Amino acid sequence: MASPKTIIAPSILAADFARLGEEIRAIEAAGADWVHVDVMDGHFVPNITLGPDIVKALRPHAKIPFDCHLMISPADPYLEAFRAAGADYISVHPEAGPHLNRTLKRIRELGGKAGVVFNPSTDPSVIQWMMDDVDLILVMSINPGFGGQTFMPSQLAKITALRAMIDATGRDIPLEVDGGVTPETAKLCIAAGATALVAGTAVFRGGAERYAANIAALRG
Ligand code: DX5
Ligand code: ZN
Repeated sequence: MASPKTIIAPSILAADFARLGEEIRAIEAAGADWVHVDVMDGHFVPNITLGPDIVKALRPHAKIPFDCHLMISPADPYLEAFRAAGADYISVHPEAGPHLNRTLKRIRELGGKAGVVFNPSTDPSVIQWMMDDVDLILVMSINPGFGGQTFMPSQLAKITALRAMIDATGRDIPLEVDGGVTPETAKLCIAAGATALVAGTAVFRGGAERYAANIAALRG
């Protein structure tokens, strides 16, 4: 079952980078539940965005959790810096290597919540034997690297499969979807069992006066 209130995590990749502090204050005021921060290294994904110093500078601008999605390889050398900067959730891709379980344990050791991100081609079985070590599951419904891409319906079955794996644990692990989320695709994700939605384009379109309506439209 989806949670009564779907968590909405606007991706600041679609915000105005020249006014990021203001943008974060605006989405929090508009009802955002988490701030989604897309960290890219130009190596694991073909784009470069931001690092822990930016997270540190932005953290005082909002009280809601920072959900840091690391699209970097290796991730391990930077976990401490992101956590110290104020990242609450820190999510990594299994392909970033070398040892996913060690990475998740390290995130928890640092006091963070440990997330695993599934690329469109990543199989749910990668976490089958380590569900106890996971605090967040993030399903990519696009190939990571850029905002503004089209939702891949092929990932809905994976959301359903992961929903069943989460339910079997009896724990309330957020199941988040990232990429091409719009009011239309949000409904499909929620029906498949998602409890958290990342959205860049769909939240930041139209300017700050639209943010509250854009966020409300995603909750379904
Ligand atoms: C892409 C990022 C996404 C992206 C989503 O690698 O992980 O968070 O910002 O953007 P939209 O919502 O525009 O598809
Ligand atoms: Zn993301």
